Amino acid sequence: MKIIDSISRMSVLIKILKKEGKSIGFVPTMGYLHEGHLSLVRTAKKHTDVVAMSIFVNPIQFDRREDLEKYPRDFKHDEGLARDAGVDIIFYPSVKDMYPDGYSTYVNVEGLTDYLCGSSRPGHFKGVTTVVAKLFGIVKPDIAYFGQKDAQQAIVIKRMATDLNMDIEIKILPIIREKDGLAMSSRNINLSEPERKDAAVLFQALKKAEALVKEGERDAKKIIRQMEAMIKGKETAKIDYISIVDTKDLKPMSTVLSEALVALAVFFGKTRLIDNIIVKA
Ligand code: PAJ
Repeated sequence: MKIIDSISRMSVLIKILKKEGKSIGFVPTMGYLHEGHLSLVRTAKKHTDVVAMSIFVNPIQFDRREDLEKYPRDFKHDEGLARDAGVDIIFYPSVKDMYPDGYSTYVNVEGLTDYLCGSSRPGHFKGVTTVVAKLFGIVKPDIAYFGQKDAQQAIVIKRMATDLNMDIEIKILPIIREKDGLAMSSRNINLSEPERKDAAVLFQALKKAEALVKEGERDAKKIIRQMEAMIKGKETAKIDYISIVDTKDLKPMSTVLSEALVALAVFFGKTRLIDNIIVKA
């Protein structure tokens, strides 16, 4: 496994791989790796000759300074996990290399970013699409892998790749969960013991929504109300949003018709967690 910590060295390596006709799979991450990240790597390994993973805590996608400062990091540990999962190249650039003095270009996907996390985290998706566009420009992957865990992010990146003719296939893979259903996330480490226990309610609330739809409930407000009641029953939980939206354009739905994305963001103490489920009427 190669560890490349500068954009210029990465560009040289990618040029060589392309010349050799190798296909490149790419898994962008912010590190503090867990099984969710590694599941993306394992799938990438089945599809492409070389798997590159970026580890870069992207400052411009954090809307709260505290969240950026508290974002967990452990490169040595990540290195071991990445190697064991079969990553061929870790790209680990510095903030200065990615955003040198005078940096002034941003990518903004309109419309899709007005909803869900877009409205509660202003500027967040602009930061995500900008860094992913830059990473795509450096790594030049054939296929890039993202998790359904960040459902809106995945849809926004797909839109960006299509709109900017990036010629990169975007694959979205299922959410990997802990035993009690909590979606794996690097941020889970910041939860206190009671917060961690309470956080299991998120998946229970999502499963409740799924069950209600299965039983024939179509009124989004009623479904959301029941989810709210479950989550509010946990002392450390504070709801940011619970929404039921169209899976394609992310517009809020009042009636659940065909397919819907049930998505939520909830604070446990100072840690904000997101999760979602796709329900079919
Ligand atoms: P990060 O939160 O590190 O996640 C990297 C990738 O792993 C994302 O595509 C995310 O959806 C996926 N992922 C995280 N937890 C998962 C889980 N439990 N199951 C399946 N996939 C999961 O998302 C980012 O980083 C950043 O915004 C990034 C795209 C790297 C841009 O900075």
